[in-house]
Amino acid sequence: MARSQWGSRFGFILAAAGSAVGLGAVWKFPYVTATNGGGVFLFIYLAISLTLGLVLMVTEWALGRAAQSGPVGVFKRATKNGASPAWALIGYGTILTCFLILSFYCVVGGWTVAYFLKSLGAGGPLLTPDAEVLKAQFDAFVGNPLWSSLSFVTFAALTTWIVVGGVSKGIETLSKYLMPVLFLLMLVLIVRGLTLPGATDGLLYYLRPDLSKITGKMLVDAMGLSLFSLSLGMGIMVTYGSYITSETKLVRSSLWVIFLAVTTCFLAGLMVLPPVFAFGFSPTTGPGLTMVTMPAVFAHLPAGSMFAMAFFFLLLVAALTSSVSILEVIVSFLIDEFGWSRSKSAWLTVAAFCVTGLGACLSQDGGWLGGATVFGKNLFNLYDYTTSNLLMPLGELALAIFAGWVAWPLIETQVGASDSRSVLMRAMRVFLRFVLPVLIVIVMISGL
Ligand code: PFF
Repeated sequence: MARSQWGSRFGFILAAAGSAVGLGAVWKFPYVTATNGGGVFLFIYLAISLTLGLVLMVTEWALGRAAQSGPVGVFKRATKNGASPAWALIGYGTILTCFLILSFYCVVGGWTVAYFLKSLGAGGPLLTPDAEVLKAQFDAFVGNPLWSSLSFVTFAALTTWIVVGGVSKGIETLSKYLMPVLFLLMLVLIVRGLTLPGATDGLLYYLRPDLSKITGKMLVDAMGLSLFSLSLGMGIMVTYGSYITSETKLVRSSLWVIFLAVTTCFLAGLMVLPPVFAFGFSPTTGPGLTMVTMPAVFAHLPAGSMFAMAFFFLLLVAALTSSVSILEVIVSFLIDEFGWSRSKSAWLTVAAFCVTGLGACLSQDGGWLGGATVFGKNLFNLYDYTTSNLLMPLGELALAIFAGWVAWPLIETQVGASDSRSVLMRAMRVFLRFVLPVLIVIVMISGL
């Protein structure tokens, strides 16, 4: 049966951008940038996204388009053509990574569900300019076993329902109209934040590079965040690549997706960091930074509760388009590998990651497992750290070596056929064979 294809290049770019733009930009980017001292981190993140991110996105698409399958199929096919079966580990690794990402992504997705409900008036007033109150509210919510678990399960169920019901198309169409609205809303919030007294300190913290702040940990964080925010290293882009037409230009399309994802991250930083300083919050607040800061900005706007409602609703939609893309990789794998039905695959997966995900919910301070740590991190931080800073970079290291040394003729044919520029091809080969592996290894070692 012919594999279905995206209707247009535009549709494909939007779908890939829908996966990329999500909580990574609005939730993760601002707090990771802030804990790494701002400034120079932003520029390192941008540099990594435009080099490593670009080459890897084109590579993942090219492999998917060549094999007409997801990550596991790509390596099975390579094995049939004489490659070592050991390469298949990369494919299985992406499935494990997706599973662990879902386990904590749905926790943060649950926060957006809860904050959306709070913005509707549930659980008392949300808007206040008082930093202490907002922080205490957030801590009380994530530390409350019942509410944090319920919101996690709600987000997980929404994700599964979309994947099982085959309504991903509807969500994509919805997000096509809603994402520009989120962009506009962010612009308004940025202007409000920047005009608060004291916001300039935050702006300088965010934009002024201070080279003395560069550390190994910062480099690993920047690389992990870049892969995470571009949905790389999880087989998603490989799967998406299997649906692109042979004429679609891979380099140009990936520049578009990277531009959209990186711009959203940049704007999210501009939206969150100036108010953090204006209100005297701590930039090292951690994963709750966006949730703690934005209600204070809404409190300084006329009709602030309407802004809060719109913001958390749009964030929820952006989060769902991303979580759906992650669950889809696991579900397609189970369907292809074991011949299970779509709903059996999806519900069994969700049952499994509810166990790991509820562990992440309850491991927050105040939760039933609160205080329990593994390698010095609670489960939530452990999943986040292990995926972004270990599994994804290692997976991409192996993928670069595979693409540069084993599957290069395939990549060359794929990229050559649609993009055909010999200089580009040569640069890409050097990148995959030498630059990326060396870069990833150096960054990972420097982080130890
Ligand atoms: N890129 C998404 C975000 O930044 O929210 C998250 C994500 C989606 C990560 C898909 C990984 C992934 F495979």
